[in-house]
Amino acid sequence: MFMAFFFKASSIPTLIFLLLSCNLIRISETQTPAPAPGLSYDFYRTRCPRLETIIRQNLQSVFASDIGQAAGLLRLHFHDCFVQGCDGSVLLDGSASGPSEKDAPPNLSLRAQAFVIIENLRRLVHNACNRTVSCSDITALAARDAVFLSGGPNYSIPLGRRDGLTFATRNVTLANLPPPSANTTTLLNSLGQKGFTPTDVVALSGGHTIGIAHCTSFTGRLYPTRDPTMDQTFFNNLRTTCPTTNSTNTTFMDIRSPNVFDNRYYVDLMNRQGLFTSDQDLYTDSRTRSIVTNFAVNQTLFYQNFVNAMIKMGQLSVLTGTQGEIRSNCSRRNSNDLFMFPDMESDQDGKLASY
Ligand code: HEM
Repeated sequence: MFMAFFFKASSIPTLIFLLLSCNLIRISETQTPAPAPGLSYDFYRTRCPRLETIIRQNLQSVFASDIGQAAGLLRLHFHDCFVQGCDGSVLLDGSASGPSEKDAPPNLSLRAQAFVIIENLRRLVHNACNRTVSCSDITALAARDAVFLSGGPNYSIPLGRRDGLTFATRNVTLANLPPPSANTTTLLNSLGQKGFTPTDVVALSGGHTIGIAHCTSFTGRLYPTRDPTMDQTFFNNLRTTCPTTNSTNTTFMDIRSPNVFDNRYYVDLMNRQGLFTSDQDLYTDSRTRSIVTNFAVNQTLFYQNFVNAMIKMGQLSVLTGTQGEIRSNCSRRNSNDLFMFPDMESDQDGKLASY
């Protein structure tokens, strides 16, 4: 009944008022998280004053030719932070000691171009400021700009992360990134262990307002039969896109506005057009349903909660101070350079290397 009203309502403010008076809004206070010890909003003010301009201008031109790359960068930061903290470990290539985090199943669908973009940004930034800025900070800033340059909110993030010296194993990676088949209980437990509230979980899932997914991420909802929580027309279209369970095709995640960072993802969920179980179940589950509804009718509220959750996510187990290092190549730890190119390493170090 509410849904019918929702789509007939001509005035969003009226709706918000009604929701408020029905006491449906239970969104927690949106308080910007304080910077973690060692991080600060002005960390690079003297070390690299042009950092944020360099990144934003470069990404502006990257997205002008392919806005899809914004989604790839946003997801890359999420996958970096959830596994072993925001330490750039997802960027590392494998070594003789074993396959890297990159090679673990959830990371195989990260866009190859996202890694190239981060390394290009690193080169530009280090050309301007020497080796003062970490790959993990560059990844965090790239994700922040991906949101803004796709039409989302503009916000500042605490900086000063350092790059990790190790990457996680396949099992650790799998244990920290929930699969798209996860239901809300699994998501709330898994993200709750990292300190995220149900509101954070719903807000972060709003990252799916941009980007694409491969059929294999959701064919479990199409075959052998339709997941009953999926809208019939949406299902018919997805079956056409993914004619078999192992199709390599892709589809947009937010059918209403696939490349715009807005709140339409939540409108999709209310229409049973969420792509993954992990998305759609947020609307099915009574603990998160009203949060979905509130974000669907109030984009500002979504933005506030998304920004706070992103700042929180961006500070998960960060390395600071003299921990870790500042890589001179995002896909390799410096000690590998030291082994192979000792002279180059000492040249690039300059007086700022402190590890
Ligand atoms: C909460 C649990 C989450 C699950 C289960 C999940 C799962 C997935 C999966 C399976 C894909 C598609 C992979 C493919 O088939 O190619 C995907 C794509 C994506 N995810 Fe998530 N995700 C989650 C949270 C997040 C968060 C927190 C963010 C960012 C804030 C995010 C941002 C994205 C973006 C932007 C894409 C599209 C990437 C592209 O177009 O290259 N996801 N996610």
